[in-house]
Amino acid sequence: MRLDKMLADTGRCTRKEAGKAVLSGNVKVNGLEVKDRSYNVDPEKDDVMFCGERIVYRRFTYIMLNKPQGVVSATNDPMERTVLDLLPSELKRQGLFPCGRLDKNTEGLLILTNNGPLSHFLLSPKFHVQKRYYFTVERPLSLSDIQKLESGVDIGGYVTMPSKVDMISEQEGYITISEGKYHQIKLMLAALLNRVTFLKRVSFGPIILDQGLECGEYRHLTKDEVSALNECVLK
Ligand code: URA
Repeated sequence: MRLDKMLADTGRCTRKEAGKAVLSGNVKVNGLEVKDRSYNVDPEKDDVMFCGERIVYRRFTYIMLNKPQGVVSATNDPMERTVLDLLPSELKRQGLFPCGRLDKNTEGLLILTNNGPLSHFLLSPKFHVQKRYYFTVERPLSLSDIQKLESGVDIGGYVTMPSKVDMISEQEGYITISEGKYHQIKLMLAALLNRVTFLKRVSFGPIILDQGLECGEYRHLTKDEVSALNECVLK
């Protein structure tokens, strides 16, 4: 891969800026200054330093974001703050997009990636990727309500697939669904004449929201987490 492309792919600079950095002696490959922007590097093996910083090359980027309320799960929006606005510019430049959506007032785990095919598979109904949410509701849920939620409710011409509900108290619990209809959980509770008062996604497939991330904070997924994500669409 060309050196300037590799540097630009990390989001730190544009390809033109990468070329300038190379020409001005700010790039080293395996300890030696390289002055040719088209120099061929192996991103997996070569040790590349850019302005004194060691470059860790990732073919794709995967971010775990603890989405706060008040931001929309979009890449851009003329009116609203988006989840991308929570990331630094070098990440913003990497073509990341949210893998699925959380409502503006829903918090919690959102994965952002630039791996389009993987994201497509993870969101495909074919793979039944499970999503677990913590919720609170306006009115207590009865046993019959829980049974209805678990066996499927009509959310306006569509009957939801089976879910799993684990209550903590009468108005608070976890629900795990394996599909992702628009406003699904809110609509499921509305079908029981109740109302969701708080919603937070705590897991997505094998990925569990990192407790150490405050609302609005993010981190890269670990290698193991990325492998686990890939595995859930290979089965
Ligand atoms: N269900 C909802 O109602 N909202 C979300 O953001 C996610 C699931």
